[in-house]
This record gives sequence, structure tokens and C-alpha cells, in this order.
Amino acid sequence: MVFPAKRVLVPGGAGFIGSNFVRHVLAQTDASVTILDALTYAGSLTTVENILGDRVSFVRGRIEDHALVDQLVSEHDLVVNFAAESHNDNSISDPSSFVKTNVSGTFALLEAVRNHDVRLHHISTDEVFGDLDFDDASKFTESTSYNPSSPYSATKAASDFLVRAWVHTYGIRATISNCSNNYGPYQHVEKFIPRQITNVLLGVRPRLYGTGRNIRDWIHVDDHSSAVLRIIEAGRLGQTYLIGANGERSNLEVVQEILRLMGKPIDEFDLVNDRPGHDRRYAIDASALRDELGWSPAFTDFCVGLEATIDWYRNNGTWWADQKTSTEAFYARTGH
Ligand code: NAD
Ligand code: DAU
Repeated sequence: MVFPAKRVLVPGGAGFIGSNFVRHVLAQTDASVTILDALTYAGSLTTVENILGDRVSFVRGRIEDHALVDQLVSEHDLVVNFAAESHNDNSISDPSSFVKTNVSGTFALLEAVRNHDVRLHHISTDEVFGDLDFDDASKFTESTSYNPSSPYSATKAASDFLVRAWVHTYGIRATISNCSNNYGPYQHVEKFIPRQITNVLLGVRPRLYGTGRNIRDWIHVDDHSSAVLRIIEAGRLGQTYLIGANGERSNLEVVQEILRLMGKPIDEFDLVNDRPGHDRRYAIDASALRDELGWSPAFTDFCVGLEATIDWYRNNGTWWADQKTSTEAFYARTGH
């Protein structure tokens, strides 16, 4: 299959998953990339500095800026949108930037791709489906109803509905993917796995919200990127695809695995305040992606990916040192 684009615009390409996706585009296609990123607290030029050059250029700007986005979209033949406010705890403390970026920003991108008839792939989350009961064996599928529960997931659901409406009403060429929890290098230390790894590296005990019973469905970020590439190559326009790698684990199990891999006693963690409205369990059934598009994850053993991720944080302290200080100051204020 030939990659169907020569010039790709990647909003949010200086963040965790967007930067990983840009690396995949460089390695697996001949396309050139423009990263459009506001460089909020979550984005950093150091994340992409070693790939900027002949094939990758960078524009600092916001996706809600209609004029900028319209100009950039007109110069590209594919937009893959990773730009978002992405952290639940921040959305609980102050939802305003989530509405602005995730809703108004997606609206601006949609108007631009409509105006210039440019293909869009929109990155979304499994959190749009709400949560599953601990005792419920079912998983989310493409036909699960939307039922978001946090300010973050409500704005992501709104963005998905905007994309679907623009497909249905204006016939824009778009696909959507909803992925489960990612882990891997370059993830901001506000997120669960890098927060606990960097805590242990600094001699601080990991912190579990509530009882640690909540379940997330982990996928390595490389597998998220390979799935998105596959959807862009072969997915049906107008469709939604769920991305997951059968990685369900309780938060307690993940913390104990991190402690074990880092040579610490597995009971050296603290239970702290729970997250308000904390979603219980997420689980993805990715069989449509596997059966229809022939995709499969490369990381089938969570411990292998986790160990490599621990090594990355151990070897890249300068990348995360500053964000660790500001992140822990925020968590101290929220009792986490
Ligand atoms: P991230 O917070 O690491 O990166 C987001 C990037 O977007 C940052 O570089 C930031 O500077 C940029 N950005 C934020 N607001 C912007 C704006 N208004 N204009 C331009 N750029 C802006 O997030 P991530 O974890 O890489 O998530 C990327 C996407 O994947 C998001 O849409 C998120 O909802 C989705 N997603 C994330 C996960 C996960 O586990 N992290 C799982 C499924 C889906
Ligand atoms: O499911 C996909 C979503 O996964 C993405 O859409 C989001 O962008 C991404 O942030 C992630 O959301 P979560 O809220 O699940 O991820 P987070 O890393 O914040 O937390 C994972 C779990 O760990 C959750 O149950 C809360 C818990 N937690 C989190 C932190 C930061 C802890 O127990 N302790 C912590 O210190």
C-alpha cells in the first residue's frame, strides 16, 4: 500500500503521541511533515529537535487560529490531528482550555479541510465511551454509545461529533480513531506511568489514587502510531476505528510491576486522594482494526515495553526534570 500523502500537517506534533507519529511517518513513508504546535506546558521543541530538518518543519501556533490553520491546510494533502488538552486532572481543575482547544480547535481544523478538500484523520480516546463496571466483561466497540464523564472526555466526544457531522453534512474526507491508554518515551510526567517511574528514580514513593483498583487498557505508543498509519493507508472514509492491544491492568498491578522492575519492594507506594468522578475501567475490542485492516501490535508483552520505558526515563532526566517540579507542585495542591 502506498502512503496517500506527500505533505502531512501534524497539529500537536510536539507532544507525546504526535511526535512519535511523526517519527513513524519519517521512517515508513516518503512524505514531508509540518508540525503545528502551540507548545503549551505539554509540548516541547526538545522532543522533536533531532527530527527537524529537510523533511520536518515546525510552526508555532494554535489550532483555534482559523486564518493560520486555513493557510497551512491549503499547503498540505493530509492533516492528522493530535493537538489537544489531554490530562483529566487538569480538566477537573480548570476545564476552560479543554473547551477552547479540543472543541473550538477541532472546529477550525474542520472548516479548513472543508474549504480545501483535504483529508483529515482525527485522534481521539476511548474515554468518550465513559467507563465499564469492574464486574462487566464487555469491551468498547465501534458501536458503543458515547457516554463521556470527565470535562476532558466530554470535549473529546464533542470533537468526534463535530468530525462526524462534517463528514455527514459536508462530505469531508475524514476518519477517527479512539485509542486506549498509551505509554512509552516522551510522555509528560503528569501521566500515571511516567509519574511513578520518575518518583522511584527520585526516591519518592509511587502514588495510587483511591484504592488502585481502577483498570486501564495499556498500549505502547509505537503501536498507536502504526495503527494510525494503517487507518490512513487503508481505512474507509467516514469510519471510526478503535485502537487497543489487550493491555488491561489495574493501577495497583502497574505500580507493583514498576517497583519490581526497578528493584524496589512491591508495597512501597502510598494511596492518595481519589480523582473526582474517577472512571472505573476502560477496555477496547480492536477486532475491527485487526480483521478489516490486518493491523496487530508489536508490543504484546507489557513488561517488555514498560522496562524499555523505565530505561528511557532513567537515561533522559534532563528531558523531564523541569516538568517534574511543576507537575508535583500541581499535585501537591490537589492532594494527589
Ligand atoms: P500531549 O498533551 O502530550 O500533547 C498535546 C500536544 O498538543 C502538545 O504538544 C501541546 O503543545 C499541543 N497543543 C495543545 N493545545 C494546542 C493548541 N490549541 N494548538 C496547537 N497545539 C496544541 O497529548 P498526547 O498524550 O500526545 O495526546 C495526543 C492526542 O491523543 C490527544 O488528542 C489525546 O486526546 C489523544 N489520546 C491520548 C491518549 C494517551 O494515553 N495519552 C490515549 C488516547 C488518545
Ligand atoms: O484512555 C485514554 C486516555 O488515557 C487518554 O485519552 C488521556 O489523554 C490519557 O491521559 C489517559 O487518561 P487517564 O486519566 O486514564 O490517564 P492518567 O495517566 O492520568 O491516569 C491513569 C490511571 O492512573 C487513572 O486511573 C488515574 C490513576 N493515577 C494517575 C496518576 C497521575 C494514579 O493512581 N496515580 C497518579 O499519580
